Amino acid sequence: MTSGKTLLVVGSGPGIGRAVASIFASKRYTNIVLLARRLESLKQEQAAIETVTSGVNVKTYAVDVTDSVAVGEALDDADAALGKPECIFYNAARVLPSSFFDHDVQDIEYDFKINTSALYLLAKRYVPHLVSLARADQLAKPGLIVTSSALPLQPIPQLFALSLVKAAQRNLVQSLNMTYGPEGVHVGVINVAGIVSPDEPDRNPTNIATRTWQWFEEGKEFEVVI
Ligand SMILES: NC(=O)c1ccc[n+]([C@@H]2O[C@H](COP(=O)([O-])OP(=O)(O)OC[C@H]3O[C@@H](n4cnc5c(N)ncnc54)[C@H](OP(=O)(O)O)[C@@H]3O)[C@@H](O)[C@H]2O)c1
Repeated sequence: MTSGKTLLVVGSGPGIGRAVASIFASKRYTNIVLLARRLESLKQEQAAIETVTSGVNVKTYAVDVTDSVAVGEALDDADAALGKPECIFYNAARVLPSSFFDHDVQDIEYDFKINTSALYLLAKRYVPHLVSLARADQLAKPGLIVTSSALPLQPIPQLFALSLVKAAQRNLVQSLNMTYGPEGVHVGVINVAGIVSPDEPDRNPTNIATRTWQWFEEGKEFEVVI
């Protein structure tokens, strides 16, 4: 097994996922695990991170986060190769327009799995480990960070499905924070309150990742709003 601290990014892509992985790698993590569905895009993410951070070990897994068996197998392999993560960045989501009443209920259920059921299973797998880390090492920074948005409190009817699953996700993360925050695990949300674009002065991926690192390093608050 490789030495060094491990960051697990669930939902690796060219926006927030890549920027957070790159900045977190430059600050603390020598091992990065990237999980998303598309193999080709994961190769690009791996190359992008390796380009900006020398000496980093990146492993990629092309799995759908809603496939709990495949995710379990992938993470067993990642844990054996790089060690269990000290920090988990949960970023997976899709933006599928949904309007009343032509939206398929199965699409609501799939979005719920991506944002909430799969996050629950990931927390079940790793939170006990994060609590152990917090107890064993005062310098450890065990964390579970979830990318959220304004949708939980300000739903958009044309995105009602994403709005409701993001509300459920935030609620789950709040409960996890109330339970495991006192145990020394930094559980919280990055509240990206608008569209992300490289042209946005605040909500560009690099600034979001920089603010995320600052918030995580301080280790106090449940959320940061960007
Ligand atoms: N972009 C925005 O305007 C915006 C605004 C507010 C909040 N957010 C939040 O930010 C997060 C995403 O950041 P981003 O938009 O910049 O995207 P990103 O980091 O560029 O990429 C996210 C990646 O998640 C992966 N993903 C989606 N569904 C998945 C699944 N079922 N299983 C595994 N991986 C999956 C996708 O890769 P594959 O297709 O290869 O699976 C996608 O590339 C989401 O939580 C979103 O709600 C985004």
